Amino acid sequence: MSKIAISGATGQLGRLVVQQLLARVPATDIVALVRTPAKAADLGVAAREADYTRPETLATALAGVETLLLISSSEVGQRLVQHRNAIDAAKAAGVKRIVYTSLLRADSTPLDLAPEHVQTEALLKASGLAWTVLRNGWYTENYAGSIAGAVASGALIGSTGEGRISSAARADYAAAAVVALTTPGHDGRVYELAGDTAYTLAELAAELSRQTGRDIPYRDLPPAEYAAALASHGVPEGFAQAIAGWDVATAQGAVFDDSKALSALIGRPTTPLATVVADVLAGLKG
Ligand SMILES: NC(=O)c1ccc[n+]([C@@H]2O[C@H](COP(=O)([O-])OP(=O)(O)OC[C@H]3O[C@@H](n4cnc5c(N)ncnc54)[C@H](OP(=O)(O)O)[C@@H]3O)[C@@H](O)[C@H]2O)c1
Repeated sequence: MSKIAISGATGQLGRLVVQQLLARVPATDIVALVRTPAKAADLGVAAREADYTRPETLATALAGVETLLLISSSEVGQRLVQHRNAIDAAKAAGVKRIVYTSLLRADSTPLDLAPEHVQTEALLKASGLAWTVLRNGWYTENYAGSIAGAVASGALIGSTGEGRISSAARADYAAAAVVALTTPGHDGRVYELAGDTAYTLAELAAELSRQTGRDIPYRDLPPAEYAAALASHGVPEGFAQAIAGWDVATAQGAVFDDSKALSALIGRPTTPLATVVADVLAGLKG
């Protein structure tokens, strides 16, 4: 049978894709592409070393692969070169199709994360290979750190104003990737994927209050104040400023979407906010 390779397979999204793919195709048809094979021992599929910055590893890792899920790298600022390396290696190795995880409305969003995704999409379209773009919206789990901070301090802080957030769980985006990898009809398509039900951070705080039985309000802060608060809790300064900037974009509607294209693709509703909050709270207990 033809093989499906998953890059970033030891990452949080990649692990969920491998788990869900195992329910659909034999383990022998799945290849985990990983930087550190020792971290892949529990995946239940063959792992091959593949580092986006070392093209020689990619050439070997992609041998015999028909379909590649290219999970965007976490190394922001380095990603265009890394993704180009992966696409070039896939072409050279005879890969037929690439499914790429991009960003919701990458071509028009105010989020500063977008340009590397737009440029990667352009490389894919010019590659001559079959391609599918999954423009993933915000992960609900992005708020895990904020939830932990809110439980510790008694207030949820951010700079999103009244911005509505159509996030979905990583497991929902993983399910979309599995559908795109294993069913026909997705070539040449760009999917804008997001959660079914949008919420504001005030509504997230209300859900947190409901589940903890405590009064945890949302405090909207000016972005510089929010970045300073994050930095005072140990978040590196540059990253704290980036997070505050993403909140400003969120206030402008950057992560809102009401297309319900994700639930349509996966054939079920996306994971409710309450479920992710409960999971995060359970993790905090321990
Ligand atoms: N939609 C959202 O809200 C959102 C939020 C955060 C990130 N993202 C994007 O979605 C991607 C997947 O999310 P995630 O939560 O799974 O992130 P993650 O847990 O940080 O996983 C990122 C993966 O990329 C791999 N990687 C990084 N640099 C690499 C390189 N040079 N060569 C090969 N692999 C490399 C990592 O390998 P190791 O396992 O070896 O570290 C890891 O497996 C992220 O990388 C990022 O592009 C989206």
